[in-house]
Amino acid sequence: MAKIRYGIVGVGGMGSGHARTMANVEECVLSAVCDIDPTVAQNAGDSFDVPHCTDYHDLIDREDVDAVIVATPHYFHPEIAIYALECGKPVISEKPLAVTVSAADAMVEAAQRTGTPFGVMHQSRTEPIWQAAYKVVSEGRLGEIYRTMLVYADFRSQAYYNSAGWRATWAGEGGGVLINQAPHSLDRFTWLGGLPSKVRAMTAIKDHVIEVEDVASAMLEYPNGAVGYLYCCTNELPPTNIMEFAGEYGKLQVVGNQIRLWEIPAGVHAYSRSSDQMWGHPEINEVPVEIEPREHGHIAIIRNFARHLLHGEPLVAPGVDGIKTVEMINAVILSGKTGDEVSVPVDRERYNAFLREMVSTSTFRKQDGPDQRITDDVHH
Ligand SMILES: NC(=O)c1ccc[n+]([C@@H]2O[C@H](COP(=O)([O-])OP(=O)(O)OC[C@H]3O[C@@H](n4cnc5c(N)ncnc54)[C@H](O)[C@@H]3O)[C@@H](O)[C@H]2O)c1
Repeated sequence: MAKIRYGIVGVGGMGSGHARTMANVEECVLSAVCDIDPTVAQNAGDSFDVPHCTDYHDLIDREDVDAVIVATPHYFHPEIAIYALECGKPVISEKPLAVTVSAADAMVEAAQRTGTPFGVMHQSRTEPIWQAAYKVVSEGRLGEIYRTMLVYADFRSQAYYNSAGWRATWAGEGGGVLINQAPHSLDRFTWLGGLPSKVRAMTAIKDHVIEVEDVASAMLEYPNGAVGYLYCCTNELPPTNIMEFAGEYGKLQVVGNQIRLWEIPAGVHAYSRSSDQMWGHPEINEVPVEIEPREHGHIAIIRNFARHLLHGEPLVAPGVDGIKTVEMINAVILSGKTGDEVSVPVDRERYNAFLREMVSTSTFRKQDGPDQRITDDVHH
């Protein structure tokens, strides 16, 4: 069987995780690794028994690298992905695609211009419950959506933030919970509910010695007049993951790993306008949602991308979809920091100028902590 030979750029916590995962994917094989840190590069090369290098150009230029996974800190994703795409090498970029939506645009533009396949590691889409949720919404079973809600409340210790100099700084990652911990939730939220046209947000640093937000909330307004709310944080336990979409003909609710669907055949607003019953309401039927077991997580994206290259299997997480997440992140950060209502699409030049300002005026110094390159299956 033909196999896709992947090279990985950035073999810290996540990149080395992808290298281990690949051993269980018949459609691919790891052929080389790269890390800017020579010791990390060498250790990964030795432990996976593949050649290593410290300059991503050298990895991408290798003839035995068919496709590239970019797993460096976010700021480097665009530069590395665009170089690979322009060499005609397909790319999976780690999430978020980029720190700024203009850089995410440039990645997608490079993929489209060169006709090179491009994916994003938004692996939570592959979970059976989210495939089922997407099916409900995309089949139009909710009718026109008039309210959305996302609560992603999670926890990170100060030691987590101290584990790498780039974490939770404007210069190192360009945002906090929104850009690092919430992107999978924001991906699913925008995958199902689309993008708002206006955002009014509040962001704050509540419980960590960091430079960027550990709490963010936002009111959203959608192009059809629908409203939404989102809340993301890294200072709460136990974790909460709630998403809700309310539409004319039904409501979909996902709480943790429970999914519920209510159908309202007469339509909420149609009933309200037509009924003469003061305390009446239309019939509401809770119906089961069929969930089909399937492979999920990082392995599913790595396999799907390889199968896309080998057999044309449709991508579960195409790179272009990653723009929406970055668009939402930029809008909430910009509104939260300026107090302004922000229109979506975000003004690219304004966001770039804002971020340059945050980086150039920063006086924040990270607490000392040992560098640790560890990731796990729970904390994405
Ligand atoms: N999809 C997921 O579930 C998931 C989970 C964790 C992290 N991530 C993403 O993966 C990326 C890396 O996160 P991590 O936790 O592995 O960080 P990490 O600090 O553990 O590893 C990053 C590695 O990249 C290397 N690096 C930095 N700049 C480089 C460059 N220019 N060229 C080559 N190597 C370079 C660093 O030396 C380091 O070894 C982030 O964008 C993060 O958001 C995704």
